[in-house]
Amino acid sequence: MSDFIIAPSILSANFAALGAEVDKVLASGTDWVHFDVMDNHYVPNLTIGPLVCDALRSHGVTAPIDVHLMVKPVDRIIPDFAKAGATYITFHPEASEHIDRTLGLIKDSGCKAGLVFNPATPLDVLEYTLDKCDMVLLMSVNPGFGGQSFIPYVLDKARKVRQMIDERGLNCRLEIDGGVKADNIREVAEAGIDTFVSGSGIFGKGKDTDPNRYDSIVAEM
Ligand code: DX5
Ligand code: ZN
Repeated sequence: MSDFIIAPSILSANFAALGAEVDKVLASGTDWVHFDVMDNHYVPNLTIGPLVCDALRSHGVTAPIDVHLMVKPVDRIIPDFAKAGATYITFHPEASEHIDRTLGLIKDSGCKAGLVFNPATPLDVLEYTLDKCDMVLLMSVNPGFGGQSFIPYVLDKARKVRQMIDERGLNCRLEIDGGVKADNIREVAEAGIDTFVSGSGIFGKGKDTDPNRYDSIVAEM
C-alpha cells in the first residue's frame, strides 16, 4: 500500500456550513474526511457524534469517513458510528478495557479498525494487535485541539511502525494527525507515513477568501 491519502480534519471547518465545506475540500483533491470525536472526558474538548456523520452521508458525501474516537469508554458508540456511515474507526488503546475486543467490534460492525497512539504512548500493544489493524494513527500533537505545533520525535515512531508493517507484509495504513502542513508533509512522508490528517493546514489558511481557496493549499501538499 503506497498511495498517499490526504484526510482534512473537519475540526477546523466552518461548522455552520459543514456540508459545503466538505464538498469544497473534497473537490479540491483531498481523499477522506477526518472526523474528530471528543467527549470532554478522554480529552478536554467536546465535538461531534454519529448524528453529524449521518448528516454528511445524507448530504451526499461518498468519500471514506475516518472516525477518530477520542472518547472513553469506546465500545458502546461503535455500532452508532457504523450505522452512521463511518468507514474507518480508530481509538486510543488506553481508552479501551479490552483492546482486542474493541478491534473485533469495529470489524464486526463492517468498518475498518485502527489504533491511535498519543505522542508519548509506547507502541507495545502493536506487537499483538498490528495484524488486526487496518490503520495505525500516530498523534503528532496531544489530542484535543486543532492548530497545535507538530511534535518532531513522532517521526521516529513513524519509522518504527513503518518497519513493523513492512516486515510483516501487512496491508495497513500509517496515518499521522496534528500539525501537518504543506511545509512539513514531505519530511513526514519520508518517515513512512502514507495518510495525512490536516485541519488548520487546510481549512484554517484560506477562510474568507475565494471559493476555490482549497485548491492551491491541497496542491502544495
Ligand atoms: C486533534 C485532532 C486533529 C486535529 C488536527 O486532537 O485529532 O485531527 O484536528 O488539526 P491540525 O491539523 O490543525 O493540527
Ligand atoms: Zn484526529
